[in-house]
Amino acid sequence: MSGSLGKKFTLADLRAARASGTKVPMLTCYDFTTARLMQESGVPMLLVGDSAANVILGYETTLPVPLDFMIELTAAVRRGAPLAFVIGDMPFGTLGSGLPQWIDNVVRMVKLSGCDCVKIEVAAGHAPLVRTLADAGVAVMAHLGLRPQSVGLIGGYKFQGRTAEEARNLVDLALVMQRSGAAAILVEAVPPEVSQRIVRETEVPVIGCGAGSACHGHVIVTHDAIGLSLRKPKFAPQLNDLAGPMKQAFAQYVQDVKSGKYPAAEHEYEMVADEKQKFLRE
Ligand code: KIV
Repeated sequence: MSGSLGKKFTLADLRAARASGTKVPMLTCYDFTTARLMQESGVPMLLVGDSAANVILGYETTLPVPLDFMIELTAAVRRGAPLAFVIGDMPFGTLGSGLPQWIDNVVRMVKLSGCDCVKIEVAAGHAPLVRTLADAGVAVMAHLGLRPQSVGLIGGYKFQGRTAEEARNLVDLALVMQRSGAAAILVEAVPPEVSQRIVRETEVPVIGCGAGSACHGHVIVTHDAIGLSLRKPKFAPQLNDLAGPMKQAFAQYVQDVKSGKYPAAEHEYEMVADEKQKFLRE
């Protein structure tokens, strides 16, 4: 097991990793405690994804999760992992009434959560937004390929870049985002040929999520990999099955309370002896 993060992981480290060919692991994270454990395990990049809508709030899609909720979660992860590179995800609907409101929403995310970077699911029309944010000093991770916030438009959670034309469009979109000042690209659910080409044609770090091995870093939804999701996507590794031990612990608690085994003497607070006597005499 790799050790705790010894120093702050920054965008400069991510760029250096791209240059040296060192692969960068990234996990989704939604709370203080898990962030602390991830930092102690040496995970350098934490994405507070809007997949929180699914794995934390139990929605079918990511669409309902509110911005304020995402900001709270991101701030909690920031407190738990001050040394990790924390990415706040801009949820569906943060465009609001147009570009100025969108910028305001991103600024709120950055100011209130303390994240290092924001992730935005992008189409070509978002280039001016990315440019404005980059000019304002915000590190933007442009998310392309499968964009779960567009599930209605796509017609399901299908992998992207299926035809030569679609694949070329994704590479072109990555280039547009780079030109607009995106600090990094995240490409989700595409065949390896597409991510290879994006890696080859761009100069920014490319993070893959079910996008093959060529990417400079890789992200997965943590719950998928530790047995806590209802469905595991094809590309997620099975790192462990924590559902079994968790259910066992909960069932043990039920049994111990019912049987009177818990709480026992060692779980009780003790009054000072003479206060106890005085109280008991009353
Ligand atoms: O919200 C999320 O967790 C994501 C990853 C799946 C890339 O966007």
